[in-house]
Formats: sequence, structure tokens, C-alpha cells
Amino acid sequence: MGLTIGVDIGGTKILAGVVDADGVILDRLKVATPKDADGTAQVIAEAVNTLRRNHVVEAVGLGAAGFIGADRSTVLFSANVGAWVGEPLRDRMEALIGLPVVVENDANAAAWGEVRFGAAAGHTNVMCVTVGTGIGGAIVFGGELYRGGGGIAGEPGHMRVVPDGLACPCGNYGCWEQYASGSALTRYARDRAAGLPEAAEKLLALGDGTPAGIQGPHVTQAALLGDPVSLAAFRELGTWLGQGLADLSAVLDPAAFVIGGGVSDAGDLLLVPALETYRGVLRRGHRLGAEVVVATLGSDAGLVGAADLARH
Ligand code: BGC
Ligand code: NA
Ligand code: ZN
Repeated sequence: MGLTIGVDIGGTKILAGVVDADGVILDRLKVATPKDADGTAQVIAEAVNTLRRNHVVEAVGLGAAGFIGADRSTVLFSANVGAWVGEPLRDRMEALIGLPVVVENDANAAAWGEVRFGAAAGHTNVMCVTVGTGIGGAIVFGGELYRGGGGIAGEPGHMRVVPDGLACPCGNYGCWEQYASGSALTRYARDRAAGLPEAAEKLLALGDGTPAGIQGPHVTQAALLGDPVSLAAFRELGTWLGQGLADLSAVLDPAAFVIGGGVSDAGDLLLVPALETYRGVLRRGHRLGAEVVVATLGSDAGLVGAADLARH
């Protein structure tokens, strides 16, 4: 098969790219995720058609942020993408695009990208955790994606880590993604900036000057400049991430965790506090634990993996 297009449909943005058989992205674009299912389908179709103008493409892989049914074509529910409930995504997109479409969970697609071309290459038992608008997860077992009994294995974002904690759009309370996602990072930074505006000077200057104007990427930029409020927000996020990884280790004992998603582009800002917590929990609990690495393909892992799934 020649070229394929991979699309990573996240809660905030949609990344689409033309990818070759070696996982190299030849052309790409990025658009904001619309709030509703119709708008989302339209925007994906437009992105694919724009990319097709300059490339001969044979199939499309969609990595979608949501619970994908065992039929691998329906989004049963999505906590973060506009009103996807029982969305017949594959059929709808095939009708709009006129090419074969493969649908996979976004984090599963990212994990597949890392298995084929990135940090998980050569590993057979790995768990991938993506930190973005939500938290995604994928279990790679014996070199294959493990989909569970109903298609939706690997959804650690909705493990309830705080009884009666923060409300999650999934309908439950206290889900991990309310504490360890990119959305949580922004919330930590906004709350701290509201309480300590002088300390958050660098961070506030990147937005519109108000705590509400702080966006996720600002927190990373400011942390790299040494902004104390942003560094503290990363520490809080990393601590929650490390604790959840320790729980996942208790169940799965993977050889490695690969951390992907938009926030993973922050690298050590996230990894250092996460690892400190993770190792601490395991040490106390007489366990060795896994290697924890950042996705080699960074936030491109989802689109690269989705494109590769479309060729198989
Ligand atoms: C969804 C997952 C998705 C993750 C990351 C979660 O809220 O339930 O399906 O992988 O967000 O986008
Ligand atoms: Na998953
Ligand atoms: Zn939830």
C-alpha cells in the first residue's frame, strides 16, 4: 500500500498527516476540535481532502478519543469530544471521504505508533499513557493491542482515584484524568496564579494577563523559563501521574510505560516528578516497577499509529 492518512482526534485539537510506510509524516495540518459530532465529522473530512490534494492516499486511520466498540467502527461514548454517543464514525467518514477508514481509540493508536516506530519498539508488554485533554491508555500485550472483552480495555483516565472527587464528563466522580491530565495542569496553574499573581508574572504574561487566559502550552513555556507557579503545577500533575502509574504497575507489571500525548512534549518537566512518585510508591511496596519513557514520536504518535493501522 502507498500512503495513508492518520488523524488524531483529541478533545482540543485534531492532528492529521500523510504518512509513509516507514512512519514518516510527509504533510500535516492541525485544526481545533468542534463541539458537536457533525462539525467534527466535517472538519475531519475537510482535513483529509485538503491533504489528498497533494498526495495519492489509499486509506485513512482515525484515532478517536473515546470508547471504541468491539466492532472497531462505533464510538460508544467520548468524555471529551463533542457529543459522541453511539457515533457510527467509520461509516460516516467512509461516506464523506470515499476511502477505507479504520477507527481506533486515540491512545491505542499512539501506542501502536510507538510500537512500530518509537519508544515501544522491541517491547512486547508495554502500557502507553497519553496525557492531553484527558488521559488515554493502551495495553500492548504480546506485541498486540489488547482490546478487552468489549473493545474498551485501557481506559485508565476513568479509574476513580478520589472517592467522590471532581466530576468527570464521563458521568463519574474522582476519575484520574481530572487530576493528571493536561486539563488538570491548566487548572493547577490557573488556581495558583489566582492566589499568587506576583509569582506567576511570567505565566500570566503569556496569556491575556488573567488566570482564565492561561492555556496548557503557556504552562510548559513558562515552566521552561523557570516560572515557579508553572513548575509547581507540573509537580502536582507529575505526582498524580506517578501514583496512577504505580497502581497500573500493580495490575499489569508492564516492562515499560510510554508517556505520550500533548503534555509529554514537556519531557522532564513531567517525567521527573512522575518518576520520583512512581519509584517511591513501588519501593515502599517491595516492587521494582517498569522503565518509564517519553513517547519518541511525542504528540505525533497518535496520527502516525492511526496511519499505520490503516495499512494493515
Ligand atoms: C477517553 C479515552 C481517550 C482519552 C485521551 C479519555 O477521556 O475516555 O478514550 O483515549 O481521554 O484522549
Ligand atoms: Na485505550
Ligand atoms: Zn471519568
